[in-house]
Amino acid sequence: MTDNVIQIKDLEKIYGSGTNEVLALEKINLNIQNQEFICVLGPSGCGKTTLLNILAGFEFPTKGFAEVLGNPILGPGPDRTMMFQDYALFPWLTISKNIEYGLKQRNFGKSERQKIVNYFIELIDLKGFENKYPIQLSGGMRQRVALARAMAVDPAILLMDEPFAALDSFTRERMQDELVRIWQLNKKVVVFITHSIEESIKLADRIIIMSPRPGRIVEILTLDSARPRDISSDECVRVARRIREILHLVANN
Ligand SMILES: Nc1ncnc2c1ncn2[C@@H]1O[C@H](COP(=O)(O)OP(=O)(O)OP(=O)(O)O)[C@@H](O)[C@H]1O
Ligand SMILES: [Mg+2]
Repeated sequence: MTDNVIQIKDLEKIYGSGTNEVLALEKINLNIQNQEFICVLGPSGCGKTTLLNILAGFEFPTKGFAEVLGNPILGPGPDRTMMFQDYALFPWLTISKNIEYGLKQRNFGKSERQKIVNYFIELIDLKGFENKYPIQLSGGMRQRVALARAMAVDPAILLMDEPFAALDSFTRERMQDELVRIWQLNKKVVVFITHSIEESIKLADRIIIMSPRPGRIVEILTLDSARPRDISSDECVRVARRIREILHLVANN
């Protein structure tokens, strides 16, 4: 018995057919353990979103398989939530109601919902904003609400597709710190896609580096230094240099 939560075996994904055929992913093999924070790093078009969509159950492999706890992924499920880059909050619901939304859908009782919402409002530092609407918040605050909403339903697996890409660099760093802090309090499997080498180093237990399309895993780097991590530390700079070398190498192959 292993601690594998996600198992991906010889996975291939082809879009379209005939002359329109696009080989997006090739021979992906990856096991993700309980509580692991995984970052997927790779050039544009290498199949990162495709991989996440397969894990979410929105797309299906052409060959091979992806499983969660030994069960094939047949569609979306309550064990997984997805946070998109431009994750839209419901503009007609208050911050509290946005966070509460998934809990209602899952038939949590009123007092339980209230307790969870309060916990997350505190956690994302938005006390006093419970009854505001998304439009009354800054972009970074909305991202925090989106994060709270994704986590409130306590999914075993959190799938994040470049969730901070649209933020300014200062807010982005704050969000990364926030995510690390929240994840350390409440460890989940996170699969986090990013274009940013620094972001991946700050967040991940393991960084999956992919080749340009067709996306293959070219290297998996394990990071075990304590968090929060200082991107300018010797170790982080060394890892960043190594990642750049690998990406450069695969780009020229
Ligand atoms: N629904 C689709 N139908 C056909 N081709 C698709 C579809 N979705 C993605 N592709 C193709 O599959 C390849 C991988 O796309 P994907 O969106 O997974 O890349 P990505 O790594 O997420 O890129 P980016 O970093 O730019 O977001 C691309 O060549 C893309 O054109
Ligand atoms: Mg993408």
